[in-house]
Amino acid sequence: MKKQTIEPKRTATKRKPVKAKKLACVDLFCGCGGMSLGFTKAGFAVKAGFELWEPAISVYKANFNHPIIKQDLSDLDEAIPKIAEYKPDLIVGGPPCQDFSTAGHQDESLGRAVLSVYYSQIVSAIRPKYFVMENVANIQNSKAFKKVIGNFKAAGYGLTLRILDAAYCGVPQTRKRMFVIGALGAKDDFLGTRLDKGLAKQPMTIHDYLGDKLGTEYYFRVPTNYTRRGVFSIYEPSMTIRAVDRPIPSGYKGNANDSAPLHMARCLTPKERSYIQTFPESFKFDGSKTHLQTMIGNAVPVNLARYVGKALMWYIKTTQAGDSHARR
Ligand SMILES: C[S@@+](CC[C@H](N)C(=O)[O-])C[C@H]1O[C@@H](n2cnc3c(N)ncnc32)[C@H](O)[C@@H]1O
Repeated sequence: MKKQTIEPKRTATKRKPVKAKKLACVDLFCGCGGMSLGFTKAGFAVKAGFELWEPAISVYKANFNHPIIKQDLSDLDEAIPKIAEYKPDLIVGGPPCQDFSTAGHQDESLGRAVLSVYYSQIVSAIRPKYFVMENVANIQNSKAFKKVIGNFKAAGYGLTLRILDAAYCGVPQTRKRMFVIGALGAKDDFLGTRLDKGLAKQPMTIHDYLGDKLGTEYYFRVPTNYTRRGVFSIYEPSMTIRAVDRPIPSGYKGNANDSAPLHMARCLTPKERSYIQTFPESFKFDGSKTHLQTMIGNAVPVNLARYVGKALMWYIKTTQAGDSHARR
């Protein structure tokens, strides 16, 4: 008789999946939080926002659980140690272009984009593994932008530069913005193909995104001059949501290119404009109408930030580089 060997029973031990630690992110010039929300949705752990303007701070506080620090980011000596405390793997930020009268102490030769230079100095001092900077598209023509790029290169970052139109990134709005994305030690344009490939074939219309939620097919937006139309249809992408919006002026007599007669249109409320910036309905906006228009118009659309964040997350995962922030 053949001897039977008895195999020991294999009990399947269930291994708990190890949850990767989320990468820590701080958001500079965070406004009411468009970029913070987009990067959260892309899988980053936003640890803090930094901002100077009270009305935006108050809205940000009402919507996020992490701290928002009131800080003048042009005061580098004070700001850098406070930001470094959070040991960010990623710094994101949309420094504004602003007039000399409002931007504090600064080098006049750098013009309106001086806060972007401060942003590049903060990133270069802290050297997180990754950063993302958002700005208006024509910053690329400024003297300051050359300095910004020079600072990032000197700090050791490989850079991807792209002007993205939000309408191709899940936002029902034509809004072209410059993104500079950096990764320490990476090749230049490390994220370019990924960003280009993910773009939608068609721009997104308001109706694609919101359906009939607005309850109107036409809306009015004050044109920059009266040779342009003021009445728009929801079956096209919205024009760029600006930081100011005014009621229909009594002098508006209609325009040959209007999508419908004026009486069929109405202005959008700040909350409706926040939808076009892809803030969710649950996002709490409180404050004066003018302040809300400003912070909503200034925001990076949530879905545009998520689009860039997801591409960066893909890069981090595929290069297995997401362990911790840079060795200093
Ligand atoms: C373009 S908005 C940023 C919007 C934000 N990224 C978002 O997605 O909602 C720029 C912000 O920078 C703030 N800001 C301007 N000067 C500043 C300064 N010196 N220090 C800190 N924040 C400043 C403004 O109040 C404004 O909210």
